[in-house]
Amino acid sequence: MKTRYAVLREEDIDSTIIEEAGRILREGGLVAFPTETVYGLGGDALQAASSRKIYEAKGRPSDNPLIVHICRMEDLPAIVEEIPRQALILAGAFWPGPLTMIFHKSELVPPETTGGLSTVAVRFPSNKIAMALIDAAGGYVAAPSANRSGRPSPTLARYCKEDLDGRVDMILDGGEVGIGLESTIIDLTTDRPMILRPGYITEAMLEDLLGPVSVDNAVLDPSSGQAPKAPGMKYRHYAPRGILTIVDGDERSRAAYINRETQKARKEGKRVGVICTDETAGLYAADLVRSAGTLRDIRTIARNLFRILREFDDADLPVLYAEAFPEEGLGAAVMNRLRKAAGQRIVRADGQSGQETLF
Ligand code: TXA
Ligand code: MG
Repeated sequence: MKTRYAVLREEDIDSTIIEEAGRILREGGLVAFPTETVYGLGGDALQAASSRKIYEAKGRPSDNPLIVHICRMEDLPAIVEEIPRQALILAGAFWPGPLTMIFHKSELVPPETTGGLSTVAVRFPSNKIAMALIDAAGGYVAAPSANRSGRPSPTLARYCKEDLDGRVDMILDGGEVGIGLESTIIDLTTDRPMILRPGYITEAMLEDLLGPVSVDNAVLDPSSGQAPKAPGMKYRHYAPRGILTIVDGDERSRAAYINRETQKARKEGKRVGVICTDETAGLYAADLVRSAGTLRDIRTIARNLFRILREFDDADLPVLYAEAFPEEGLGAAVMNRLRKAAGQRIVRADGQSGQETLF
């Protein structure tokens, strides 16, 4: 299949291109498109065959449900059984935006889209290209992140092309995304709302409006061995080509540990990469040292993380270290993704010696 590639600007959207992309989706084809979180791989959510194609293009297990994207609040009732009061409150505050809510699904949504579940995940994105595309497609676009399964979610159209060229009908390039991590997922079908995936909309922001919310235990404690409630969270999101280890501890101990391990690896002829921050980049002497952003604004780190992980893959470094980032607020989402990339491999560097404790 030949993949068409079109560049669009959010401020001045070319309607001919959107009409063409909408037609492709209505006819059962696939279009990769920008959202404010990451690029999505869209298909018509109401056509079982489109959802099957999405799984095939991504190389994704078909028990992993898709998020249905809408572009109007009025389109929600048709795909869900009921709209809890809490959903209206959250929609009022965060839609359009980076929040996905889980509802009981209506008959209209085929089981192929929800991985066989009786619930459906719904999101109303704020990116204007995404909204125009969903509208042109008829209102309901199923879209996982537009990466091949096992790769980081794409924050640039170039990465969609890398992963999906020849496997989808069209890629819409709307530039670099603003947030860089996938949406927060909250389940509203349980007695107490439960966060299934942390994201830009933080636990504190949700609790401000809803009162107490819980967090899926498998997210809080990945070593618990419990199955996550969002089926996709059980998959190792991204396995870098090199072995990635997260190093926690104070700034000096971390640097001492990483620098010592770097020397060891170099003696074995292995090249080393380090992911750090603007504030700490000067402490390292590895082969590739990349700052993800500044500790003064965790949003910068969220935005760059997936791109940097891809850059490290391109550089083909066998040994990788990442500093642990502070876990407050959006930091919880950043560390959730980083831990998955590291296959939960974290060491704590303690004291000046940078002694290692695996946990
Ligand atoms: O920001 C985002 O949400 C991006 C953009 C493209 O919108 N999409 C995205 O989709 O991250 P994906 O497929 O990569 O992640 C969807 C997650 C998976 O972990 C999946 O298991 C979970 O949502 N999910 C979907 N439907 C669900 C349901 N009914 N119950 C529980 N989890 C669900
Ligand atoms: Mg994904």
